[in-house]
Amino acid sequence: MNVYDSARMADVLAPLGYGPTDRPDEADMVILNTCHIREKAAEKVFSELGRLRRIKDARAAQGLPMVLAVAGCVAQAEGEEVLRRAPFVDIVLGPQTYHRLPEMVAQAARAGGAVLDTEFPTEPKFDFLPEARAEGTNAFLAIQEGCDRFCTFCVVPYTRGAEYSRPAAAVLAEAASLAAQGVREITVIGQNVNAWHGEPGWDLGSLLTALARIDGIERLRYTTSHPRDMSDSLIAAHRDLPELMPFLHLPIQSGSNRILAAMNRGHDRDQYRRLTDRLRAARPDLALSSDFIVGFPGETDADFADTLALVADIGFVQTYSFKYSPRPGTPAAAMGDQIPEAVKEARLAELQALLQRQTEAFNQSCVGREMSVLLDRPGRYEDQLLGRSPYMQPVHVRAPGQRIGDVVRLRIAAVHPNSLEAVLA
Ligand code: 5AD
Ligand code: SF4
Repeated sequence: MNVYDSARMADVLAPLGYGPTDRPDEADMVILNTCHIREKAAEKVFSELGRLRRIKDARAAQGLPMVLAVAGCVAQAEGEEVLRRAPFVDIVLGPQTYHRLPEMVAQAARAGGAVLDTEFPTEPKFDFLPEARAEGTNAFLAIQEGCDRFCTFCVVPYTRGAEYSRPAAAVLAEAASLAAQGVREITVIGQNVNAWHGEPGWDLGSLLTALARIDGIERLRYTTSHPRDMSDSLIAAHRDLPELMPFLHLPIQSGSNRILAAMNRGHDRDQYRRLTDRLRAARPDLALSSDFIVGFPGETDADFADTLALVADIGFVQTYSFKYSPRPGTPAAAMGDQIPEAVKEARLAELQALLQRQTEAFNQSCVGREMSVLLDRPGRYEDQLLGRSPYMQPVHVRAPGQRIGDVVRLRIAAVHPNSLEAVLA
């Protein structure tokens, strides 16, 4: 979501004459788009600000301006703290107000003091953003934001705010514009994307069906979903839409029913298992990915063993796993029985080793299989092109005569450490 938001901030600022650069020392403006999901991400902001301050001072000594803005969820949650610890910051803005950036830039130039805008405005920012500019064959499209689920470990409902779904017409118009700019694969995104309900009588299943009908759109994905919001129509979309890739990121967080209850997830292990059975019945070649948190308050060795057993039982082919990080203001941060860092580390290492073996076994099982791959980049060698498999694996192939943007049938020939090698099928 932050990648998408950063691109949209660039779109908003383009009419003012700003364009992207890789070099902060050459930048008239630097925006740090920040993440508050775990403490490590949030703390990084302050070390990064220290580095940028030196660049800003060096530019000032040469008479060059540098507007410094902090955007995103750290700004939302700790805006005052950012200004206190880093008084050289010019603008602090939350994720819901970046459509007002041009106004803030003007205000910062006039005022000489810092501008702080971390409101949850009544106007949806999406209505005020210019048309999204596409780069390449793949694009994110935000259809939903915020979350009403209130998992006890999570800051999202506080930083991104209440669940909001964009209207179907706006989503379809943005998708059509992306397709016209050459996009072939769209990943619709939201913090709880399958809670999308932009129109009475619609859900994500019907939205994906409408997106699949747009000329030029050949592949669809969605992320991130909550197991409780998996509707019948969405499961049917996995059966009926060849455009919908057979790879689903469906976080469960833990394999222990006791911990799932303490997390306020609203589902247990068996419900999750039945759901994945239904998804696989709809789409037999479906592969699953998940998020896990280890060391949630009160997690025992037995709870953790349940997680390891679930990982093997479901057969996840890819996952993201994290040590529990207490977040200010969330219920879990105030729970007793916080787990020592060393235990979290040992559990994370064990979980990641198991997941790594499953990812490797899955990659090996792909050898000899035919898959469709969207070619999205030139390779290092002549006639070589790179792309992604339906399962997001990077694939390289010698494909003379093929072009970027083509979807080709390939046979997987070998597994390399970070990619698959393929031949034209
Ligand atoms: N500590 C550790 N991981 C977290 N996540 C969310 N909040 C926390 C936290 N407090 C993880 C969850 C979520 C992913 C985006 O980040 O696994 O699915
Ligand atoms: Fe956070 Fe996802 Fe739970 Fe919402 S569903 S509170 S975004 S972990």
